Amino acid sequence: MAESKQKIILTGDRPTGRLHLGHYVGSLRRRVELQNSGEYDKIYILVADDQALTDNADNPDKIRDNMIQVALDYLSVGIDPEISNICVQSQIPALHALTFYYMNLVTTARLSRNPTVKAEMAQKGFDQEGLPAGFFTYPVSQTADITAFKATTVPAGEDQEPMLEQAREIVRKFNQTYGDVLVEPQILLPDVKAQLRLPGIDGQAKMSKSLGNCIYLSDTPAEVKEKIMKRTYTDPTHLKIEDPGHVEGNIVFTYLDAFANDDMFAEYLPDYKNLDEMKEHYQRGGLGDVKCKKFLIKVLEETLSPIRARRAEWAKRIPDVYDILKTGTERAVEETNKTLEEVRSAMRIDYFKDGSIIDQWEKIING
Ligand code: TRP
Repeated sequence: MAESKQKIILTGDRPTGRLHLGHYVGSLRRRVELQNSGEYDKIYILVADDQALTDNADNPDKIRDNMIQVALDYLSVGIDPEISNICVQSQIPALHALTFYYMNLVTTARLSRNPTVKAEMAQKGFDQEGLPAGFFTYPVSQTADITAFKATTVPAGEDQEPMLEQAREIVRKFNQTYGDVLVEPQILLPDVKAQLRLPGIDGQAKMSKSLGNCIYLSDTPAEVKEKIMKRTYTDPTHLKIEDPGHVEGNIVFTYLDAFANDDMFAEYLPDYKNLDEMKEHYQRGGLGDVKCKKFLIKVLEETLSPIRARRAEWAKRIPDVYDILKTGTERAVEETNKTLEEVRSAMRIDYFKDGSIIDQWEKIING
């Protein structure tokens, strides 16, 4: 494998909607920590609009509009564009060229076995007849994203593991076939198992835009309050306050597990020292859902209100956000063009690099 002395991070999101608490818990929070750890030489965050188009070809304006939403979400959670280079996939030509070359290093049979793509096909209702070739092959394009930056590290949820496996296979195949150019990337999973995936407010396993069960990072306090008080799933058997309640599968407690700490009890709910005491009371009976939900709102606002405040600041600076994306993309173009050049040299398709092919052609033709 080509050795990268540097530690390089590449992550990305499809700009198909505003980002929500599930993204925050599953990836954004971690990205900010990694960014501020100072352990990485380079960090790239890719707004994957091309990938978003693979199942939204008829709705490009959705992606165009969400580009700025996702950028604001990044900035408002604390992504620092001076450290984390934010860039736009479609404007980085090397990614397209690499995708095209990698297509030859993977079989359609192998792509058909990708469990993430299979699951997404089922979720989107694509059968073989309706499946866009671009969507089917997006793992190859994602391999181009990762390898173009020579990323060593891809922080992502476990649903991305098959993508990384696929990427490593393509890297190995490339390096065996053409020489040691590409770097094998490793996934960096979230460290707390329980926080891998935040369920939706309705109790479904995943917070997801298409299920309409999200709390968005950009929701107003009134929206958050309405979603928690009126729409968040608790325990359907807990009818009267005195009834014993269940905390498993109770979304209020799932969210408290993910966000509450002892200081928040001291400040907002001093009846209990910690979540264990609160749960115990709920299970015994005598603690009502309204009280729990009011506390949960306070807890969530500890996370959401600073995000909202930063978003409001950036919202006044849209031209600056534009410049951040544009500059970040320019840097990415430069970086990925270097990789593309190495790839093309290794593949023997660098005809016009330095004119040395003239001599070779002379020999073939004129001896
Ligand atoms: N597939 C990722 C998602 O659905 C987005 C993405 C595109 C990505 N390119 C990437 C993630 C490269 C990590 C690395 O959110």
